[in-house]
Amino acid sequence: MSTEGVNTTSTEAYSSKPQRKIPNSRFPLLVHRDAVPGGGAEAIKKRFRENGWSNNWDYPGVYDYAHFHSTTHECLGCANGWMEFHVSVGKGGWTRIKICTGDVIVMPAGVSHQMVGQSDDIHMCGGYPDGRDWDDIQEAFLSDEDYKLACKRIMMLPIPARDPATGHPMPEWHAAPSSVDGGWNEWRTRLDARS
Ligand SMILES: [Fe+2]
Repeated sequence: MSTEGVNTTSTEAYSSKPQRKIPNSRFPLLVHRDAVPGGGAEAIKKRFRENGWSNNWDYPGVYDYAHFHSTTHECLGCANGWMEFHVSVGKGGWTRIKICTGDVIVMPAGVSHQMVGQSDDIHMCGGYPDGRDWDDIQEAFLSDEDYKLACKRIMMLPIPARDPATGHPMPEWHAAPSSVDGGWNEWRTRLDARS
């Protein structure tokens, strides 16, 4: 039986909370499995751009040190091979996520990520909503003041218009608990506390 036209994408969602000097996000990290069947850098970048996630790159992997972004959310698509992320989400604060050809990750600003394993033929694509540019923050080198400023930038970022993989209007992010319901009040208040 032909599976042509059948949408085999399934989505995993991982929540997070601020930890140490990693802001994390009230929006879940999303993993869309087999979002671009067969992968391929051109097909993935085309999908990202169609959905408004541009400033694209493709490269054999991603940074192999822990970092997060404060100026933009990020999407990462696996064009070829497989790779494993260490990500600051999920129960216990950290999760390993393996992605394969065709999978797409939607990485909220503030979530720490690092490549910890990959196949020899790994090839990844990136994209940013409205073509924003990214910064590259490493917790180990982050002062208290710069942490606060990074959190403030993250809080200002809008929810992107469309999901980079599905094109849907970010239903999982709009459905995320509000900062009140999600227990972010104390964290937010502390950012502005006089020390
Ligand atoms: Fe990144």
